[in-house]
Amino acid sequence: SAAPAIAPSILLCDYAKLGQEIADLQAAGAQLMHLDVMDGHFVPNFTFGMTIVEAARRSTDLPLDVHLMMENPGRYLKQFREAGADVLTVHEEVCRDQQELADLVAEIRELGALAGIAINPPTPLEKIDQVAADCDLILCMSVMPGFGGQKFDRTALDKLRTLHEREDVDALLEVDGGVNLETIADCAQAGANLLVVGSAISSGENYEKRFRQLEQLIR
Ligand code: DX5
Ligand code: ZN
Repeated sequence: SAAPAIAPSILLCDYAKLGQEIADLQAAGAQLMHLDVMDGHFVPNFTFGMTIVEAARRSTDLPLDVHLMMENPGRYLKQFREAGADVLTVHEEVCRDQQELADLVAEIRELGALAGIAINPPTPLEKIDQVAADCDLILCMSVMPGFGGQKFDRTALDKLRTLHEREDVDALLEVDGGVNLETIADCAQAGANLLVVGSAISSGENYEKRFRQLEQLIR
């Protein structure tokens, strides 16, 4: 299978120059952008909504991978899609049951985007076992979402391996949180196709150099 792709998160970027930050990440080798939407309810932090997604859309032609860390995502899917999201990922933890999750997946697909489902470190795979075979992306969180720069939780690796081995699952597998020079190779080995990297890129003074160092570890 193809080498996994690094999806830089703009969470810790300088929003006063968002367009330039995205251009720099693209020049460094990014093949898609990961955008972290936080609502201050589902996670104890705020970031941005569709206004910034739309601004990112005008800054790049790369796919926008929009991670919705929010309650009631169904209410806003259309607006995020219209703002330019190519992938919309919703959390299992905000759903009553797997039927609600499946309905969100269907809505996202009807809007013409790829449909992702995300699970936090404490959430077992059983919570998505019926939806896993019929979605486009599964995001295994390797930190409790809310903040960049946290320590990688290795339980995500077991989930990735299990999903990778499931014959009926052909969704892209994504991992997010604490992915850095120490942990990225294990993520790739466990079967992740998309590696979200926040602080390990944005803390470096040179995005391109950091990008190349990370890429070398997954080739
Ligand atoms: C976690 C976010 C992540 C985060 C990753 O709350 O969903 O996308 O920005 O940042 P790092 O790589 O610093 O853990
Ligand atoms: Zn994220």
